[in-house]
Amino acid sequence: MNPAIPPWGGRFHDKPDALLKRFSESVSFDRRLYRQDIRGSIAHATMLQEAGLLSIQERDEIVRGLRQIEQEIEQGAFPWSIDWEDLHMNIERALTARTPAGAKLHTGRSRNDQVATSLRLWVKDEIDKDRKAIRAVQQALLDWAERDSDVLIPGYTHLQRAQPVLLAHHLLAYVEMLSRDSDRLRDARRRADVLPLGSGALAGSTLPLDRRRVAELLHFSQVARNSMDAVSDRDFAVEYLAALALLGTHLSRFAEDLILWSTSEFGFVSLPEAFTTGSSLMPQKRNPDVLELIRGKAARLSGNLLSLLTLLKGLPLTYNRDLQEDKEPMFDSADTILGSLQILAALIPGIVVHRDRCNRASSDPALLATDLVDWLVNHGVAFRDAHHAVGRLVALAESRNVALSELAPEDVAPLHPDLPAEWAQLWNPTAAIAKRRTEGSSRPSFVRAEIERWRREWSAEPL
Ligand code: ARG
Repeated sequence: MNPAIPPWGGRFHDKPDALLKRFSESVSFDRRLYRQDIRGSIAHATMLQEAGLLSIQERDEIVRGLRQIEQEIEQGAFPWSIDWEDLHMNIERALTARTPAGAKLHTGRSRNDQVATSLRLWVKDEIDKDRKAIRAVQQALLDWAERDSDVLIPGYTHLQRAQPVLLAHHLLAYVEMLSRDSDRLRDARRRADVLPLGSGALAGSTLPLDRRRVAELLHFSQVARNSMDAVSDRDFAVEYLAALALLGTHLSRFAEDLILWSTSEFGFVSLPEAFTTGSSLMPQKRNPDVLELIRGKAARLSGNLLSLLTLLKGLPLTYNRDLQEDKEPMFDSADTILGSLQILAALIPGIVVHRDRCNRASSDPALLATDLVDWLVNHGVAFRDAHHAVGRLVALAESRNVALSELAPEDVAPLHPDLPAEWAQLWNPTAAIAKRRTEGSSRPSFVRAEIERWRREWSAEPL
């Protein structure tokens, strides 16, 4: 490209206004696609040579030039400039300055199919990183579950103590969520794995381009079947951001659990000092700032998804410049999620569980009121009657200001003649959870089997 004329060619007499340049440039942010863009250009040039549109020498000069440019960018020595709107034009200009063959690189290509290709390559790369980072958090959760496998805590509904559960069972709930997140990302990757290049600006090309060859070179498993869809489709980007928004929501809920557990009110855990912060005023404080930030960053992840959906909803086919606004939310979400996942994977191993506090909280006999109902049902009492009778016992204990377990045999005898004899043995929470028998419950043998199942699954499918 001749620097004396505007980069979009001979049709223009006037130079672009400085305001336009600053307003419309994307190079300040899309430069981070350089690896994907250069990979795409090398594949395109390879195919152009095979199709007879470049000589071998021209192809070699282009490939060599692009590799040099890549190195320069990596060393921070590349002269990015908003005189050339985006990374694609910056790289093409630098290539053309190195070799006249650079003027042939854009043969049969438009920035519309080029940018869609770079973005899809980038999403595929990011998803691979995200899934590895998810796995690291899952491993940390599983290690923790194993470390404190005998600890009981109250499970909560409505943030009110409900029934005792194994701490490990609670942690494995998050392993499940993260596993669905990872599956969703893998699924989104499948739909990103389609090559747009060769669609031209929107209508394809009269040149003998071999799209399947380019797909093969770039490891895309399919070529886009409709050129108009190919240049304007950002579904893959929406799916990526949706998967990250939901993943961020899960991380936020986990952060919230840890924040609660680390308060003096709960006192179940202490967070590692290296991941907590002090107060500028109150000397005694140790704050869970990073967890609060993980919770806060979930808002950005949802916001980015909404930005993209809003961006797309009114666009006529095919490419519109609005689409340039797809990148910053995507980059932001990609960085945000990796940051949150990395912090959690590093923080979890340093968490210390306060067994005494967990013990005390989970030993409240009221948490076994449901087990008492089950006992009655097992002894022939209709569920509703049992529920009602136990409710009245709870009220009675409350009115006397004693624990449910402290009621006298004569208080409980009306519920069932066998109950007074067994009454004293009903209140051990460890024995109580061992009696859970449904699949997916907090029975220790089930939880142990789940831990082993996850380990087996992950060693069978390392990422
Ligand atoms: N910078 C543009 C983007 O990010 C590249 C495609 C521009 N195409 C165009 N016809 N102006 O979307």
